[in-house]
Amino acid sequence: MKILVTGGAGYIGSHLVDALMAQGHELYVIDNLSTGRIDNIRHLLGNERLHFVNDSILNEALMERIIEQVDLIYHLAAVVGVKHVLDHPFQGILTNVRGTEIVLELAYKYWRKVVIASSSEVYGKSEKAPLSEDDDSILGPTAVGRWSYALAKAIDEHLAFIYYGKGLPVTIVRYFNSYGPRLDPRGYGSVVAKFVSQALQDKPLTVFSDGQQTRCFTYIDDTIRGSILAATVKEAEGQSFNIGSNRETPILELAQLVKRLTGSSSEIVHVPYAQAYRANFEETRRRVPDVRKAERILGFRAEVPLEEGLRRTIEWFREEQLD
Ligand SMILES: NC(=O)c1ccc[n+]([C@@H]2O[C@H](COP(=O)([O-])OP(=O)(O)OC[C@H]3O[C@@H](n4cnc5c(N)ncnc54)[C@H](O)[C@@H]3O)[C@@H](O)[C@H]2O)c1
Repeated sequence: MKILVTGGAGYIGSHLVDALMAQGHELYVIDNLSTGRIDNIRHLLGNERLHFVNDSILNEALMERIIEQVDLIYHLAAVVGVKHVLDHPFQGILTNVRGTEIVLELAYKYWRKVVIASSSEVYGKSEKAPLSEDDDSILGPTAVGRWSYALAKAIDEHLAFIYYGKGLPVTIVRYFNSYGPRLDPRGYGSVVAKFVSQALQDKPLTVFSDGQQTRCFTYIDDTIRGSILAATVKEAEGQSFNIGSNRETPILELAQLVKRLTGSSSEIVHVPYAQAYRANFEETRRRVPDVRKAERILGFRAEVPLEEGLRRTIEWFREEQLD
């Protein structure tokens, strides 16, 4: 098949491109390299089945030329994560809403199947655990900038459902804290990347607040397998899926695990949220996916244990440091 991966030079996108190339497909990648890196796909650049375009998904004429040629679209390009969105609030809303609208409009025009990358953030600050796909999304006030990411992703999902209503085959994947090789080593937005970088440099591991807030970390191979299943299982069309592990890990425990697996002498220090973000920052204490729907319909279950995934991630970070 001819497949477009928007944001295909990014962390998840580049792994998806690797997996789809390995299956023998022809890949089109559009990425403006704002947070993505050419190094993530450099090993594929000479391959005649890979067409890389360094441009924005907001370039409609270009997007039309690409979408016309492909059979399937994975839409991952976005201004990703709370910290990036707080730093680039306007760009975040524009890219994450208008960008998705362009993808869906053109997919509808040429009748192409689409997988939309959404986020566990759409559940907002809901304290329910586990969170199933049809649970309420509880967002904070609009004066608190961090919620614009969740809101933009929620609008993307609404748009996807509207186009599904018009008959377009669309599936939504909600990723839960994916981690693995190629995470931004600056730790921008990923607590795993932040801790591994800090530990390898013997710098203090900075845990926000008391560290008892939990997340469910999902190794990249699982994230990718779930995404590909979402595109291939017919029954998945018109639905959203939690793609994540349901093992809940307190952030303090993650810091201790990273410290142990790296053999680092770093100390673990606690930092108030306000110091890292803004005074009115709001955080969610838990975010656990209900994985039953993905299991039942996609046949997907996260498999890589946290310790194993962290070992592989640490190994990649060590190699990066040597380069
Ligand atoms: N990493 C996670 O745990 C996670 C969790 C939930 C959702 N997601 C979603 O998964 C997708 C991929 O995220 P990621 O973690 O790989 O982050 P990433 O920042 O590595 O990937 C996003 C990519 O989009 C590109 N991009 C941004 N704006 C663009 C534009 N206007 N035109 C073209 N390309 C543009 C960036 O350069 C980058 O390569 C995103 O949609 C994100 O919201 C990720």
